[in-house]
Amino acid sequence: MTNPILEIRHLKKSFGHNEVLKDISLSINKGEVISIIGSSGSGKSTFLRSINLLEEPTEGHILYHGENVLKKGYDLTTYREKLGMVFQSFNLFENLNVLENAIVAQTTVLKRNRTEAETIAKTNLEKVGMGERYWKARPSQLSGGQKQRVAIARALSVDPEAILFDEPTSALDPEMVGEVLRTMQDLAKSGLTMIIVTHEMEFAKEVSDRVIFMDKGIIAEEGTPQQIFENPQEERTKEFLKRFLK
Ligand SMILES: Nc1ncnc2c1ncn2[C@@H]1O[C@H](COP(=O)(O)OP(=O)(O)O)[C@@H](O)[C@H]1O
Ligand SMILES: [Mg+2]
Repeated sequence: MTNPILEIRHLKKSFGHNEVLKDISLSINKGEVISIIGSSGSGKSTFLRSINLLEEPTEGHILYHGENVLKKGYDLTTYREKLGMVFQSFNLFENLNVLENAIVAQTTVLKRNRTEAETIAKTNLEKVGMGERYWKARPSQLSGGQKQRVAIARALSVDPEAILFDEPTSALDPEMVGEVLRTMQDLAKSGLTMIIVTHEMEFAKEVSDRVIFMDKGIIAEEGTPQQIFENPQEERTKEFLKRFLK
């Protein structure tokens, strides 16, 4: 039985005359891990940003548990809370320490009491390997990999139904990539629904239930990791992979 959290139907997004997303449809089931691969400029970030409505789609529908969130009058509060986002550039609050970074959305947005928020933040920070000795540190005192793990703990702390990751390891020094990917792999195993834009092909192959290859604003091919990486059907998928898998 499939149980879609999100159904994206015929999504289009233009910036002026530039049609960046051209009719994208995708269902995302609970617990699924979907990787999105594709060349720079193919619309991957715009797609993620349109899913969580950081960009307003030009056309199409987004059904969240069967309800169209783009319809007039739909209350987006819950929808926005339930989709976490992890960016390439971390986007931590530089003026707050690690622990406060993982608390603030819980107390302000979810109105949790301080004690509960703190307990949840600590649990999630520990889960990503950022235990007590880091809690008082400022983001500026952390490595990129540590910052990204805090950003993941922060996203987890508001009980998301899914987390969207936009190239979470692209801004990291090579030696930091592994620790973030391992953290994400643990989350994938724990049953979290994840949509991950990544250039880490080995990782995508290992953790994904499905791989989406985007090219020029469309889903050019999708399938299991085996289908996409070992037996791609489309010429442009083959070309793209040739550049990444040497
Ligand atoms: N806010 C924006 N305004 C205008 N054009 C944009 C904006 N965001 C993205 N684009 C354009 O959309 C296209 C796809 O970009 P993007 O979604 O960032 O691709 P990717 O993440 O696959 O590299 C690019 O041509 C980019 O210039
Ligand atoms: Mg991008």
